[in-house]
Amino acid sequence: MIAPDAKHGLAEEDQLFRLLRQLDLAPDASQRDIAAALGISLGRLNAQLRSAAAAGLITISERPGPDRRQRFAYALTGRGGAEKNRLADRFLARKFAEYEALHAELTGTTSGLSPLKYRTRLMQNNLAPIPELYVSYESAQKLKSEAGDLVSHDLTLRQICDLELLMNGGFNPLKGFLGQDDYDRVVEEMRLADGTLWPMPITLDVSEDFAASIELGQDIALRDQEGVILATMTVTDRWTPDKSREAEKVFGADDMAHPAVNYLHNVAGKVYLGGPVTGIQQPVHYDFRGRRDTPNELRALFRKLGWRRVVAFQTRNPLHRAHQELTFRAAKEAQANLLIHPVVGMTKPGDVDHFTRVRCYEAVLDKYPGSTTTMSLLNLAMRMAGPREAVWHGLIRKNHGCTHFIVGRDHAGPGKNSAGEDFYGPYEAQDLFREHQDEIGIEMVDFKHMVYVQERAQYEAIDEIEDKDNVTILNISGTELRRRLREGLEIPDWFSFAEVVEELRHRYPPRSQQGFTVFFTGFSGSGKSTIANALMVKLMEMGDRPVTLLDGDIVRKNLSSELGFSKEHRDLNIRRIGYVASEITKNGGIAICAPIAPYATTRRAVREEIEQYGAFIEVHVATSIEECERRDRKGLYRLAREGKIKEFTGISDPYDVPENPELRVETENVEVDNCAHQVILKLESMGLIAG
Ligand code: PPS
Repeated sequence: MIAPDAKHGLAEEDQLFRLLRQLDLAPDASQRDIAAALGISLGRLNAQLRSAAAAGLITISERPGPDRRQRFAYALTGRGGAEKNRLADRFLARKFAEYEALHAELTGTTSGLSPLKYRTRLMQNNLAPIPELYVSYESAQKLKSEAGDLVSHDLTLRQICDLELLMNGGFNPLKGFLGQDDYDRVVEEMRLADGTLWPMPITLDVSEDFAASIELGQDIALRDQEGVILATMTVTDRWTPDKSREAEKVFGADDMAHPAVNYLHNVAGKVYLGGPVTGIQQPVHYDFRGRRDTPNELRALFRKLGWRRVVAFQTRNPLHRAHQELTFRAAKEAQANLLIHPVVGMTKPGDVDHFTRVRCYEAVLDKYPGSTTTMSLLNLAMRMAGPREAVWHGLIRKNHGCTHFIVGRDHAGPGKNSAGEDFYGPYEAQDLFREHQDEIGIEMVDFKHMVYVQERAQYEAIDEIEDKDNVTILNISGTELRRRLREGLEIPDWFSFAEVVEELRHRYPPRSQQGFTVFFTGFSGSGKSTIANALMVKLMEMGDRPVTLLDGDIVRKNLSSELGFSKEHRDLNIRRIGYVASEITKNGGIAICAPIAPYATTRRAVREEIEQYGAFIEVHVATSIEECERRDRKGLYRLAREGKIKEFTGISDPYDVPENPELRVETENVEVDNCAHQVILKLESMGLIAG
């Protein structure tokens, strides 16, 4: 039974909800029409409009024109839009509870619809629409011009992915970037503050300076990288997270070898902002537009096709015959249709780019029996968080209208930790998923490890083969496939489809035809430039690919003339070099870089950028600081000792010695030609130049 006070509060809440909804639906209506639609008097309406404006939920402006009945124009503010969405949910939840109670009173049983405990369960039917955070088109237009005056945050690529799924319901029940209470409980217990299962912190990380410029309660505009306003957010929370705790709890270890931990410490801003989001427009995608669907679009598609049971297959890799067999079997076993649901947002650094993958998926799609299978691209930024990620993926697929989800061995695994061991056990993801399956609301389908049985010329699940000792079992691992592509070796027909192999060969020509970057690092005067020059000449003599030298001094003159030697400026300098080198590598050239590059984290960032396109060979020119100072070819060490040059690497500024460079060269008592030759030999051994 609801207490009288609470009842009063609820009535007010309902009125406010109706008012906001009405203004959102018909912002141009006259006062009289609004009052009529709400069934209240003009006086009452005026009082409600005033109090909504005072609460910052709507704006009221004078409208020019002769019609006295339409003197004022009303528009929902960003906060008003978010409040309307929140109240809509509460309204629905309450009505649902009332319906349940009435049903029980009349029939003595529950309705059989979903229990109200979990928000993800509220929409029992996997095909019913789910809530989005977008306002109507008209409100979006108004909000957009209003938001032009707000303080702006330029979203990172990862934040754009997160925002898209927040706005389109992919992250339902989240209503915005997490506030601190939700964040704390998600990190500790995989639950939002209200107890709802949610395994991944979806946070808006910003710089300390930006965070300090914001007041709590303030609305900010969230812009994409071209400056387009995608949403507004009311900042309700601001805090400095304990990132090591987040890494330990969410990713299982505070170990930089984990890509998301590296991101957390070295890319993400220091401060988090949280608060509800009001969606204005979807991020723009120019590629594969017809293959991208929001959760509601997929639900509508399944409704239209009459697909009541749908198995989703998550992937970040190209599909080969084994995957096709496995997914098709999974769908058959679950008596369901199949959704290939690859991630095209952000995956693990070094993965095959999504353009290539989508062309491969399109080729494989033709191999499934007609009308059983479809594909949709998911703009998710993966975290590679293994078990937690699997649960997260399940919730996302549930939101996309799927009833079943394939969870594999080592699902969303990040590879090895810095001790060379796996971060997670191979079945940890499946175990955690199984534990929470009911709450997630989607059924797990175990991944079967499919292998090719030569004698029977077919794929079979390895644990179902009874005559293992008498048959020839064939399999090609991911590493072996990459080796064959790299070396231009045969990829058998039983392993993949001709169209897929052709795409991959096109994208990954043999290494001796790909671009690459040689990145020298070492103290000033260590001999980097001299060796780099000798290497350049040797490579130009071979003449099969264009060669560019990005020497420290040359770059500082042409690209970074305004920069000094603070950590911030050095990082910027190296990132510029990395960017140019990655472009050269992407387009099949050879980039030789020779800066000091004293910071390991920056070198790693450059490596990750370049390895998307070709090999990165770090060469540590290991001349000792004593020897460099003894040589002092430019007279800079003497000036540094005299304090006339500040922040001088090795004297008054740090240098992180590379731990695992591809090559380390000693220059004391070794000819320059010999040092350059060592690099050539290394390139040969890596297959980058023909022997
Ligand atoms: S960094 O740290 O990678 O951005 O440095 P880099 O762009 O390679 O520039 C190094 C060259 O600048 C000269 N120089 C200094 N080096 C180190 N510390 C300080 N404070 C400094 N001031 C000037 C120096 O000649 C370096 O050239 P190289 O070719 O390395 O000898």
